[in-house]
Amino acid sequence: MNADRLIRRVLKPLVFLLCLGPLAWLAWRAAGPGFGPNPAEFLNRFLGDWAIRFLLIALAVTPVRGITGWAGLVRFRRMLGLYAFFYVCLHLSSYTVVDQFFDWSAILKDILKRNFITVGMTAFALLIPLAITSTKGMVKRLGAARWQKLHRLVYAAGILGCGHYFMMVKGNQPEPLYHGAILAVLLGYRVAVWFRRASAARRNARESMRAA
Ligand code: HEM
Repeated sequence: MNADRLIRRVLKPLVFLLCLGPLAWLAWRAAGPGFGPNPAEFLNRFLGDWAIRFLLIALAVTPVRGITGWAGLVRFRRMLGLYAFFYVCLHLSSYTVVDQFFDWSAILKDILKRNFITVGMTAFALLIPLAITSTKGMVKRLGAARWQKLHRLVYAAGILGCGHYFMMVKGNQPEPLYHGAILAVLLGYRVAVWFRRASAARRNARESMRAA
């Protein structure tokens, strides 16, 4: 089997199923031991955890591809990004349905008054255009350059997602710090690549001027 077929036929379906793992685990908890004394909080936090994890996993594709040189990795990026959006949607739904019972005025009040919800909602809003434009057809319609520019919004969504996590925890919980540190490495890698390319371009321009 060649590499393309291996990715299409085996690895992609496998990753797709693996990404449903957290939901399978939730279903098992629901059928067996349950969600503990505060099921609404358990559900919301569990889905929030997976939303931020998938966001970071999707953001890790480019650096891991750059470091390992495995170009095929990029073919998993859209799926992982859409899974991040999917878990954010479930997280938001659990808040809307289980926490707030569709009390839209309470939800609006929360969005306006509780800063960490405002930040979470902004991160969610930034992910919507990315999910909508994730299809191959939309890449063609927008053109690669504009599509790439638009999809830089994911960096802001990642920063806001981590900020939302930082803002909601009380006390000395280290988890938001770990997530923030991972995000800093993933974004730092992109900044380093950008600087390297910019200085290489400047060097080339100087050399071609000297040669002229
Ligand atoms: C990119 C978007 C978002 C990400 C990545 C995200 C992620 C998270 C994470 C990691 C947590 C903490 C889970 C834990 O303690 O283990 C959390 C908590 C929470 N999030 Fe989000 N979230 C996002 C958007 C939203 C939105 C749009 C809302 C609602 C409008 C929301 C409402 C909440 C609430 C109510 C909590 C729990 C607060 C508590 O239990 O005290 N989040 N979120």
